[in-house]
Amino acid sequence: MAFTHALRYYAGMSDKPVQDRIRKLRAEIERHNHLYYVANQPQISDRDYDRLYHELEDLEKQYPQFLTPDSPTQHVGATQHMGATQHVGATQRMGGVPLAEFEQVRHRLPMMSLDNTYSQSELMNFHERLLRLLPGQVFTYIVEPKIDGVAITLRYEHGRLVTGSTRGDGTMGDNITANLQTIRSIPLKLCGERPPPAVLEVRGEVYMTRDGFVTINRVREEAGEEPFANPRNAAAGSLKLLDSRQVARRPLDVIIYGIGELEGIAFDTHAQMLAALKTFGLKIPAKFWTCRSMDAVRVALEELKTMQHTFPFEIDGGVIKVNERTFYEKLGATAKSPRWAVAFKYESERAETRLKAITVQVGRTGVLTPVAELEPVALAGSTINRATLHNADEVKRKDIRVGDQVYVEKAGEVIPAIVGVNTSARNGQERLFRMPNKCPVCGEPITQREGEVAYRCENLQCPAQLKRWLRHFAARGAMDIDGLGDALVDQLVDANLVADPTDLYRLRHESVAALEHMAATSAQNLLDGIAASKQRDFWRVLFALGIRQVGAKMAQTLEQHYTGIEPLMQATPDELQQIRDMGPVVAKNIYNYFQTAQNRGLIQRLQKAGVNLKRTAGAALKSGRLTGKFFVLTGALENFSRDQAEQAIRALGGEVSASVSKKTFGVVAGAEPGSKLDKARTLGVRVMNEAEFEKLIRA
Ligand code: IVH
Repeated sequence: MAFTHALRYYAGMSDKPVQDRIRKLRAEIERHNHLYYVANQPQISDRDYDRLYHELEDLEKQYPQFLTPDSPTQHVGATQHMGATQHVGATQRMGGVPLAEFEQVRHRLPMMSLDNTYSQSELMNFHERLLRLLPGQVFTYIVEPKIDGVAITLRYEHGRLVTGSTRGDGTMGDNITANLQTIRSIPLKLCGERPPPAVLEVRGEVYMTRDGFVTINRVREEAGEEPFANPRNAAAGSLKLLDSRQVARRPLDVIIYGIGELEGIAFDTHAQMLAALKTFGLKIPAKFWTCRSMDAVRVALEELKTMQHTFPFEIDGGVIKVNERTFYEKLGATAKSPRWAVAFKYESERAETRLKAITVQVGRTGVLTPVAELEPVALAGSTINRATLHNADEVKRKDIRVGDQVYVEKAGEVIPAIVGVNTSARNGQERLFRMPNKCPVCGEPITQREGEVAYRCENLQCPAQLKRWLRHFAARGAMDIDGLGDALVDQLVDANLVADPTDLYRLRHESVAALEHMAATSAQNLLDGIAASKQRDFWRVLFALGIRQVGAKMAQTLEQHYTGIEPLMQATPDELQQIRDMGPVVAKNIYNYFQTAQNRGLIQRLQKAGVNLKRTAGAALKSGRLTGKFFVLTGALENFSRDQAEQAIRALGGEVSASVSKKTFGVVAGAEPGSKLDKARTLGVRVMNEAEFEKLIRA
């Protein structure tokens, strides 16, 4: 073994070479620790590392007078790189004796928290406050991941770690130095070229990796112990352990994102500070963004969100900080948080649960969608037992298997989705998913159209498709048929009373009243609702038909250009493409729709039933005061619904687009405007409030 040779070699020598060798070994071990734990780029094998380590450990045993508390052997717990043999050696400093409780540490500078924002408009308020407080000043932002862990502070004096503590109440925290020393990415001694400052207090977040969390919970469950609810609780619980030998076995790590007290060093910007901390060997966020505008902040936050699952730890949002530290004093703080930073928290929550099965649903257009049947799990205030898997490609790409532990996520109103698989929880029993080759509802063969990822049931009589179609047909935004809800649609199809929407107009009172749970009056109400739908605007009928990619807006555009169904049925794809906003694919879809005998028959039956298939007076495309002018709407207006505002603009020949560009004539901003307002300001586009908008359209 290397160290026995070393001992023989040093025996009988004067102290100087021993001291030199110890110094060299420490520097070398620290360098490799940093490469392994912080930079994630090990340069030597575990075995070679162990050799260096054991040589140092032995020399320190031989020459205890040279043992110093900042020696890398004093990192409590596992003495070598993860994965190498567990050798719990270096406990001298703590005496290996569990503590009764933690000492209290006073933070010389309080450890504050952050104000939370959840929406673009709250974020905008933060920005606007800064604009007010720093009139005419140029400043930039840093966006960092908001790590969901436990806040800690580390105090280095002349480069040596002297205290590590928790935030506590912000003024006093627990002295958990011994526990923090077990975290390999926390250097006991700062490294780097430049001499360390007299005082460098750094602040950051201790977290447990997701993988580590899964493993630790498995071990706990096997031992009959209560599993941790999430990685943050696991990290907090670990740091509270009184025996740091146990802490050393917990998969904890740290990221440093801030500073406290400083002496002998200063930083002008946050970015500069992060760079300096990195050269000291501290682990800073692997990814952060420098942003020159609020738009850039938004883009950064979006990017952060899309990449959140690529981090080995949980994040619960982003933190936006003014980069220029020179403004911090001027900006000051509220009772709890500094004015130079704010958190942007994600609404969505994530849960982990078991994927029991994958079923296949058939949509209105016949598309087959794989659906995850989940072990019920609480998520963002509700219980989730199903989630969409979008399509077979997605299942394959994410390698989702039946029996997997999956991560489910929900953002606002959106249907929950499976965002990933906890592959470390696999036991080999998981099964791969295959799309059925027959429709699960009607048994007809499934097809995949060229260039599409979707699999479809092309059978228009397929009850699943029919039910969806009828629901769409009767919906508020389409034919708006009062009294025709989902349950009744199911009953009508299951009782073979309706085989396509035109059958609705032939329903007789007796057959409806004969349905289960149907009273005579409700049957009459339904028939009245159906009859009333014959008078709906032409565009609604077009939308209700369910032509692929013809939404309500496209249907309205069609109504502006065609006086009724007949000229529309004769329109060629080339002609349709002349319409603004009409792409070649939609034009082709519309054309194809009217070419099939089945659809022509359907139109004929609607006509016969007396359904309105003519343009409503006044719906023709007008040229008016606002012709050629593009508007963008953002936020809620008091006197107009979104639809009404759009219609008012179109009625005067104007157009409404979804995003702001230089071409935009004006942005109409209501309450809680979104990023469009910001964009308008950046581009110098005219912004009008509701009163100005009303004036414009009423003029
Ligand atoms: S800066 C004055 N940056 O979030 C407070 N905090 O909700 C400065 N956190 O107490 C904090 N990631 O524990 C900052 N990149 C980050 C962070 C972060 C997580 C935590 C921190 C703080 C809490 C506030």
